[in-house]
Amino acid sequence: MHTSYSRIIENAFEEVKALPDAGELATYIPELANVDPSKLGMHMTCIDGNHFGIGDDLHKFSIQSIAKVLSLTLAYKIVGEPLWERVDVEPSGTKFDSLLLLESYKGIPRNPFINSGAIVICDILMTHLKDTKVEFLEFVRELSDLPKLNYSDKIADSEKRTGYRNVALCNFIKSFGNITNEPEEVLDFYFDMCSLEMTCQEVSRTFGFLANEGCKISDGTKIITKNKCKRINALMLTCGFYDESGEFAFRVGLPGKSGVGGGIVALYPKNYAMVVWSPKLNKHGNSYKGMELLEKVTTHSEMSIF
Ligand code: DON
Repeated sequence: MHTSYSRIIENAFEEVKALPDAGELATYIPELANVDPSKLGMHMTCIDGNHFGIGDDLHKFSIQSIAKVLSLTLAYKIVGEPLWERVDVEPSGTKFDSLLLLESYKGIPRNPFINSGAIVICDILMTHLKDTKVEFLEFVRELSDLPKLNYSDKIADSEKRTGYRNVALCNFIKSFGNITNEPEEVLDFYFDMCSLEMTCQEVSRTFGFLANEGCKISDGTKIITKNKCKRINALMLTCGFYDESGEFAFRVGLPGKSGVGGGIVALYPKNYAMVVWSPKLNKHGNSYKGMELLEKVTTHSEMSIF
């Protein structure tokens, strides 16, 4: 870790902490409304193994849609290029839970990070794995070096009781024939996948392989090929923030992925994975202070992919 990075992060953190938080908690998942909105944490894991954290970076939060990158990685690893016959690689320009484009594109979601695309990825995993929930969890445990990592029943149950939009999405896609398993079972896995709880430190370690050309930082294990790694990074840059993906690339200049728990992971390929958490969200469902903080770090360090 360059000492300059830690100083830049510390300064950016203090500046963002002092800002008024213009965001709102994600209350459509009732359990997420119980989170302390003042939390703010950040952790950076570099590919040389150094890491640096600040604030609430060791406090667990619900990673939500950040997990969609991990389910995509596993599905892409198993299926390879035919995966893209079931889900496209284009930015949607719509909200994360929109039904709008599914009608015109005949049940093929625009990309794997909007809810519809992530639900199709869950369906694909269920077709290829014997015990999907267990095998996906094992995959994330391996990536994170957290052998005891588990789904949160509390968060998953909360969303299972209220996730009518996702139920609609899954059934609508099924009507076009792009869901092969039972919608109820696909959604059950999808909600569990989104319920994982981790700290900023743990998420930054988990995503290290995507900053490290497909290989785990801790022991060098090859998770995916360099080419697949490049493509997943490209999707994060173009689609990771839904209808705010352009804005994120414009302000932060890194591939990344957000979740409605208020977490954001951003990757600087061949350098680091950086995770911020601040629960209040802007109107696009992305962490308000999280984006501010990431923008300050890449601007002050003058380091981004551009
Ligand atoms: O399906 C949902 O609505 C949530 N489980 C995940 C959405 C999400 O995290 C959107 N990201 N910013």
